[in-house]
Amino acid sequence: MLYGVRRVALLGATGSIGRQAIEVVERHPELELCALQSGSAPLDALAAAHGVAHVQVGGDPIPLLDRSAPDVVLNAVVGFAGIRATLWALEQGVTLALANKESLVAAGELAIRARERGGGQLLPVDSEHSALFQCLEGREADSVEGLVLTASGGPFRGRSRAELEGVTVAEALSHPTWQMGPKITIDSATLANKGLELIEAHWLFGLPYDRIEVVVQPTSIVHSLVRFRDGALLAHVGVPDMRVPISFALTYPERAATDVPQLPLAGLELAFEAVDEDAFPMLSLAREAGERGGTAPCAFNAANEVAVAAFLDGRLGFAEIAAVVEETLTRVDGAPARDLDDLVAADREARELAARGLQPA
Ligand SMILES: NC(=O)c1ccc[n+]([C@@H]2O[C@H](COP(=O)([O-])OP(=O)(O)OC[C@H]3O[C@@H](n4cnc5c(N)ncnc54)[C@H](OP(=O)(O)O)[C@@H]3O)[C@@H](O)[C@H]2O)c1
Repeated sequence: MLYGVRRVALLGATGSIGRQAIEVVERHPELELCALQSGSAPLDALAAAHGVAHVQVGGDPIPLLDRSAPDVVLNAVVGFAGIRATLWALEQGVTLALANKESLVAAGELAIRARERGGGQLLPVDSEHSALFQCLEGREADSVEGLVLTASGGPFRGRSRAELEGVTVAEALSHPTWQMGPKITIDSATLANKGLELIEAHWLFGLPYDRIEVVVQPTSIVHSLVRFRDGALLAHVGVPDMRVPISFALTYPERAATDVPQLPLAGLELAFEAVDEDAFPMLSLAREAGERGGTAPCAFNAANEVAVAAFLDGRLGFAEIAAVVEETLTRVDGAPARDLDDLVAADREARELAARGLQPA
């Protein structure tokens, strides 16, 4: 049991994570929805079904969060649009269950400073980071050698750069192991998602980039691993189902029951492969942006959002996504952001540069 009712503000309520979060809330009598937000989809039926008084479609989430006074903010908005809610929760010291990785990638330094001031909990919902969080819990920082993020490799694992020319939106949207929203599914096909996760891991766990590896584990059974200085590796293993990390974050530290089946182990084979960074250059571009620091990760994210939207609309070829991002990164100065206004300006500038670089598919 939790220690009393936990009131959850669910932002991105109509998305893939949002819908699974609702299942988790329905499963647990001590979780209660107190606020809902979507981008444009109507929320009336959902609000009525759950007796939620504070509801907003689009716009700035801060008045909604102020009014509803949640115990936990589950930020499941897609893209940079999630940034205000992330910074609000961290600044206020309200527990943040974070699925919206783009906000931490773009605003890493601002977010970490806001968390220091606010003093609240930041619980990752991304399955890899939830896994790392769990493997790291209770360990001394100096016992940790490094982090290992696992990647499924996406639908195009094993293809060369040339074989990726001309792949279609439908092919890129058919992910082998996860059912997710369209933007993260394309990010998984280009490996930009793993690049975003690399930067996210850097900010969440405070390790330098040269101590964060990425390895392909095609079945997504191993959610990530931590290497310790004594030679031990701790892995988080289970069926790939986002309700597990969502439930972990919403009921932390209870680890409440879910409806997710247990993983049968007899006969289970786990293979690992290196990432082909020539075929999937988005991972190295993200690593470079992360190491460069300042607003370079914000520009990486912004350019990627523009390029992915263009690919989904049929205005850009799959292989050109990385070209647009690379070109944008060479043009931005990457100067650090002092505040949210600076960051919003850096995001806008990168979007404009990326939009100019779009080539017809
Ligand atoms: N899906 C997964 O399994 C998964 C796993 C790990 C991490 N994540 C991360 O979780 C986040 C959400 O992913 P998703 O797959 O759930 O995406 P999704 O299915 O596309 O859903 C996105 C949600 O964000 C809302 N939204 C869009 N723009 C908004 C805005 N300006 N203000 C407020 N809400 C807005 C959408 O509302 P409308 O319906 O009105 O458009 C929708 O509710 C992403 O950052 C993703 O990287 C997802």
